[in-house]
Amino acid sequence: MKKMVVLSILALAPVLLAQKFEKLAATPPMGWNTWNTFQGRISEALIKEMAEALIASGMQKAGYRYLVIDDVWEAKERDSQGNLVPDPERFPSGMKALGDYLHSKGFQFGIYNDAGTKTCAGYPGGRGHEFQDALTYASWGVDYLKYDWCSHGTANGPETYKTMRDALYTAGRPVVFSLCEWGDTKPWLWAKDVGHLWRTTGDIMPCFDCQGAYSMGFKYILELQVGLEEYAGPGHWNDPDMLEVGNPGLTLAESRAHFSLWCMLAAPLMAGNDVRKMTEEVRAILTNPEAIAIDQDPLGKEGYRFMKHPGKQIWAKELANGAWAVCFFNDSDEAVQLRIDWSNLSFLKGSYRVRDLWQRKDLGAATGEFRAPLPSHDVIMLKLTPMP
Ligand code: GLA
Repeated sequence: MKKMVVLSILALAPVLLAQKFEKLAATPPMGWNTWNTFQGRISEALIKEMAEALIASGMQKAGYRYLVIDDVWEAKERDSQGNLVPDPERFPSGMKALGDYLHSKGFQFGIYNDAGTKTCAGYPGGRGHEFQDALTYASWGVDYLKYDWCSHGTANGPETYKTMRDALYTAGRPVVFSLCEWGDTKPWLWAKDVGHLWRTTGDIMPCFDCQGAYSMGFKYILELQVGLEEYAGPGHWNDPDMLEVGNPGLTLAESRAHFSLWCMLAAPLMAGNDVRKMTEEVRAILTNPEAIAIDQDPLGKEGYRFMKHPGKQIWAKELANGAWAVCFFNDSDEAVQLRIDWSNLSFLKGSYRVRDLWQRKDLGAATGEFRAPLPSHDVIMLKLTPMP
């Protein structure tokens, strides 16, 4: 009898361990990440300055609460016990102290590593150390882990990420698990029970439509999101990569379009600009509460592309309480004149009042035709609320 009880408990053990932390990321995570502006030029001094700037600029209040330290925080080698160690010159107080500081300022602490043997910048990766590293992160007070996919060799993606999921769960500290496997093995098909978000593409670049060997401007990233909307929802989000809003290489219109479209996609909003130096116009984009509310809508539905014509894309996102967000995007190099017959937006049912989320202005009822000039690479984003 006793033996049977023991056996049945043992049989349950893998089932109990095989899960991610639930109830995290009910809406897409928001925060700031070091990579897009600073790459390897990071230190605890920079993180503290950025935390102060996020508070002073109103970004933290607007919802940006995960402060994520990306690649190049580590020393080149693990210690003699195999533990991860931060670079002693750039992070002299250690990660526990930095985590405590961030928590004291009202932030959540995010960190980066890699599922392979080395990170993309060549620092120690997590492979074979998953359970040890998860305990280290827990001891530092880490709340968010971005886990990359460089140097993975012949490793199997789903199995490797599941191992880290189980390690985090066993360590016991709730952690948002951000998979960064670039869409290689279609994580939207398998990662719902593994992580809270997963990258869908290679890296974003600070431009509209440029392309690198492995990276691309937001216009191309957007294109790769079409059709993925059915896989996202509360606790499990498609991640079209971090924001380039406000970074050199994007015009203000392009920053506004990029931000609006990421809100339509219910994308994680990870700012990546130098918050200490941003202009008022960039600040206004990143903190627009009405745009952020589209991203963070509690229904948790990712928007989809309703229509694409040359120069005109229409994106639609269903919101709570029967409302809709609609975004008109001019992807051409010429200004266009929008003429939209409301009755052609077949997802709408009934009568709505319309609000322009960038002009912050009510436009009246959605009847007849909507006409507006739309400059090149810019958007008009509207919220339609049902009328009784
Ligand atoms: C990969 C990731 C990026 C960033 C770098 C760091 O390219 O996709 O987001 O984390 O590695 O080296």
